[in-house]
Amino acid sequence: MKVLVVGEGAREHTVCWKFSRSNRLSGLFAAPGNAGTLDLATNLPKIEPNDVEAVTRFAVDSSIDLVFIGPEAPLAAGLVDALSAEGIAAVGPHAAASRLEASKAFAKSFMSSYNIPTAAYRSFSDGNEFEKYVRATRKRLVVKKSGLAGGKGVFEDEDPDILIANGRAIVDAKDEVIAEEFLTGSEVSIFALTDGSDYLMLPPCADYKKAGVGSTGPNTGGMGAVCPVPWITPEEMLQIDREIVAPTFRGMADAGIGYRGVLYFGLMITTDGPRLLEYNVRFGDPEAQVLLPLLRADFTNWCEAIVHGSIGNFPAGYLEASAVGVVIAAAGYPGSYQKGLTVSRLPSHPEDEAFVFHASTAVRHGRLVTGGGRCFTAVGIGRELLNARSRAYSAARGITFPGSWYRPDIGGRIFGS
Ligand code: AMP
Ligand code: GLY
Repeated sequence: MKVLVVGEGAREHTVCWKFSRSNRLSGLFAAPGNAGTLDLATNLPKIEPNDVEAVTRFAVDSSIDLVFIGPEAPLAAGLVDALSAEGIAAVGPHAAASRLEASKAFAKSFMSSYNIPTAAYRSFSDGNEFEKYVRATRKRLVVKKSGLAGGKGVFEDEDPDILIANGRAIVDAKDEVIAEEFLTGSEVSIFALTDGSDYLMLPPCADYKKAGVGSTGPNTGGMGAVCPVPWITPEEMLQIDREIVAPTFRGMADAGIGYRGVLYFGLMITTDGPRLLEYNVRFGDPEAQVLLPLLRADFTNWCEAIVHGSIGNFPAGYLEASAVGVVIAAAGYPGSYQKGLTVSRLPSHPEDEAFVFHASTAVRHGRLVTGGGRCFTAVGIGRELLNARSRAYSAARGITFPGSWYRPDIGGRIFGS
């Protein structure tokens, strides 16, 4: 079987690594891939993930059997529609279903229609109406851009003037703005694989979204992750399934939204129960880096079950272990940062204990260089979260490039930090 993985992040490096362990593969390609996937796959550095035509042409010309799409933008741009038209199997939803992530206005109205618990909200396409609403509301609000924003479309300031300025900028750019109730609690990322009729929930992950120690400072794409999440109980997982995941899939069937792939539920566990903050139509990054190493079965079989409609009977199994992922970022991230920094050192560890997954790295003139803000994820695996964490940090310390930094408290909540 020939597989193409679309994307260049640490999530896609992890997906390539997982596929590379399958004994059913006859070819593995990454479009464009990164310096980490070079060891596992044939990289296609000239193919942009969002270039639907180029990805589809390569898949057709190279007789690819299965395409796994990592990021949301190619899904929203219709990559799966184009591949399906050519009869090529793909893990990921069509453009219409990708609106669950690409339009928060659509997602929130879907949640309301199917009584899926979420933060109370209103959406606006008129800046004056929006401002009037924010000024009149007594409760704290969160303001969101409806369309894709690469993790930069949510504003949580307590100052209404800042919220208004950000919301007006969204409307001026011809998008809708959502104003919703600010929720407190702990966040969890839940992933379900679906074949369009059945679904399978994977072990819960937690993503450390803020840049600073103790979850302070600006939002990022995610500075680290743990899987499973020790502070989520099996009863809470059942409640999440009953109140959020199952109604979502029932709603999709009712609304005629055909969906094959990974659906990500970004949840806040509040004192009133779980609330759905958002859907994403893909694996999370860095959640994939801690989740995939814990899946036992051949990843090709997982993907075939998604595209062939047999996820309901899939013999899922997970390692009796924990995984902790620590993101190593460039100085300045999540603000502006330099690319092309030389990486002078990477650690080496036994594969069952730690991994270093690359994001957007490249080899230039024989040197490994960075290519993004979040540059690597160091992942530790251990029987307990504590040894997974110490292995992750030992790998993180071994990664050196100018100005590199990471949060020192990933996995920390249960250790009291
Ligand atoms: P989203 O893209 O909607 O998941 O939002 C990104 C992040 O903003 C979330 O992971 C939360 O940390 C925060 N956030 C979003 N919505 C809310 C809310 N209603 N209340 C509090 N924090 C939120
Ligand atoms: N880790 C958050 C995301 O992938 O959207």
